[in-house]
Amino acid sequence: MEIAVIGSNGQLGNDIYETLKREKKWDIIGLTHSDVDVSDIDSVFSVFKELKPNIIINTAAFHNVPLCEKEKEKAFSVNSQGAQNLADISNKLKATLIHFSTDYVFDGKKRAPYIETDAPNPLNVYAKSKLEGENRIREVAEKYYILRVAGLYGKYPSRVKGYNFVGLMLKLAKERDEIRVVADEFTTPTYTKEIAEQVRVIIEKEPPYDIYHATAEGECSWYEFAKTIFEIADVRTNLKKAEPGEFATEVNRPKYSVLENFNFKKENLNVFKHWREELEDYLQEVKII
Ligand SMILES: NC(=O)c1ccc[n+]([C@@H]2O[C@H](COP(=O)([O-])OP(=O)(O)OC[C@H]3O[C@@H](n4cnc5c(N)ncnc54)[C@H](OP(=O)(O)O)[C@@H]3O)[C@@H](O)[C@H]2O)c1
Repeated sequence: MEIAVIGSNGQLGNDIYETLKREKKWDIIGLTHSDVDVSDIDSVFSVFKELKPNIIINTAAFHNVPLCEKEKEKAFSVNSQGAQNLADISNKLKATLIHFSTDYVFDGKKRAPYIETDAPNPLNVYAKSKLEGENRIREVAEKYYILRVAGLYGKYPSRVKGYNFVGLMLKLAKERDEIRVVADEFTTPTYTKEIAEQVRVIIEKEPPYDIYHATAEGECSWYEFAKTIFEIADVRTNLKKAEPGEFATEVNRPKYSVLENFNFKKENLNVFKHWREELEDYLQEVKII
């Protein structure tokens, strides 16, 4: 069986590529942006008609949230049209599409973990374009899994930011006398290696085609996440809660975007651990502890 991983040099794509390759069961083809542009139907069709994979895994996205507000057309082109292009080619090849979406499809007003059947209400352009991508896949693709993920960190940096939150906090601890972090935004930080493991399980077990929430267990504010990073890494620093609105930007973001992996649990296939445990695994893997 052949599996193509789009965005294989990205934060999540790298871990998925490595995890699947390690199994030595399948042929894994890694594709970067220079190999295929998901927003360009000609590029998608010419690459995949040649490769003919059985599974297409799409980690590609335009996910610089502030830039999406300014470049709305590009956001929809990559995140929505790109998803549709991949749904179209997947149908042609009778392939399964595994696609990634975001906790930001919700507005945060529920103040309790969101399950897959809760109604989305995206607050910004990025989230709107990702939700439209989900909808296109649900309408078009015959065989698909959409995984909503959140607060990613992994040993490979995000292609957009060049770092992850954990690395940023440890860097700031060396550079600054005081670190201020928002305490009124809640999410569940998730280690990309665990998501890669969940993808492996999907491929092995073939649960029903659907949307799945795919985040670590539990929830925390960004402040609590930072505090825990410093605790586990045994770094002494002057960490303070930012005042509400202190880092105000023009982009609306949900204050609460915690996801419950209801569908994976229903299938008895949820692999995720508590976010603190995943953080410990990560800090060990990158030799911080
Ligand atoms: N990061 C988070 O905290 C977070 C949270 C929720 C959801 N997500 C979702 O998780 C997924 C993976 O995110 P990530 O953090 O791994 O992102 P990442 O590190 O930025 O990787 C994205 C990859 O997609 C490629 N790409 C971008 N535009 C493309 C296009 N038009 N055609 C083909 N490839 C393209 C990028 O290549 P270039 O860099 O060369 O363009 C890069 O290899 C995305 O769907 C994102 O929306 C992420």
